[in-house]
Amino acid sequence: MTHLEKTRFAHRHLLDIARLSAADISLILDVADVYAERSRAREKKLSLLRGMTQINLFFENSTRTRTSFELAGQRLGADVINMSVGSSSVKKGETLIDTAMTLNAMRPDILVIRHSDSGAPHLLSQKVDCAVINGGDGSHEHPTQALLDAQTIRNRKGRLAGLTVAICGDILHSRVARSNIALLNIMGARVRIVGPTTLIPSNAKTMGVEVYHSMEDGLKDADIVMMLRLQTERMQGAFVPSVREYFHLFGLDKEKLRVAKPDALIMHPGPMNRGVEIDSEIADDLHISAISEQVEMGVAVRMACLDLLTRREADE
Ligand code: CP
Repeated sequence: MTHLEKTRFAHRHLLDIARLSAADISLILDVADVYAERSRAREKKLSLLRGMTQINLFFENSTRTRTSFELAGQRLGADVINMSVGSSSVKKGETLIDTAMTLNAMRPDILVIRHSDSGAPHLLSQKVDCAVINGGDGSHEHPTQALLDAQTIRNRKGRLAGLTVAICGDILHSRVARSNIALLNIMGARVRIVGPTTLIPSNAKTMGVEVYHSMEDGLKDADIVMMLRLQTERMQGAFVPSVREYFHLFGLDKEKLRVAKPDALIMHPGPMNRGVEIDSEIADDLHISAISEQVEMGVAVRMACLDLLTRREADE
């Protein structure tokens, strides 16, 4: 890793993409490249974080983010604790802050939090002594998802700058969309959002994106097509007339993909709802779909984040 091993990261926490510079993002992706290679080797384990403690505190369901943070910490040699919120004292009425203060007293080095309230990781970062990583907060941000998406795009296309990325579906409720829009803008990509008016934020024009309400227009000559699921857990009332109608208009299938570039890459952060926002024929086509690679890069990018955020601790 040479110079990458020595480079210091300017941030104590990873709360959102907006605080990162292009150089910060490139550094995370460069370090993640090294860990992606390491994760393909038979011996995956390192001792970089030996003696350090990582607590994963997930107040919302997760498969990919929680498991990959756990693997990332273990592969770097940290002691990793998954706090089971369902059987914790949160169920007895303990507040987020009291829970955080309790965990802080056990002197962890890293706290990874997912919470349904936007801003919860930021609040936590002001109360604890360790590094805090946002594993997704409400409809605000999911920074490590955007970083792993960027890593996947860079692997496949060799760059981010100048690419046309169409992010399609439920943008309104999506923290993945917000983090990706921020990152892709910082890195010089051209970002389009595509969806029905009910699922596009009212301030979309201020987000540095082009807004489209038809897949035919939004996907035209796109390099990357990123599909998002309907986030029904954040919806009150109906935002689409029916799932059948939604798939007809906005679900990605071979016919709608026809207008994108011939080598367009298909992405989805997961979990997928097949037949709602994406057709299985597209999702499972390994020539065009990078969905499995996104999951693989999730571990590497999270190893890079844990490594970089704890370099400061190692210095102190
Ligand atoms: N993409 C993502 O955050 O997936 P999980 O909800 O399974 O963590």
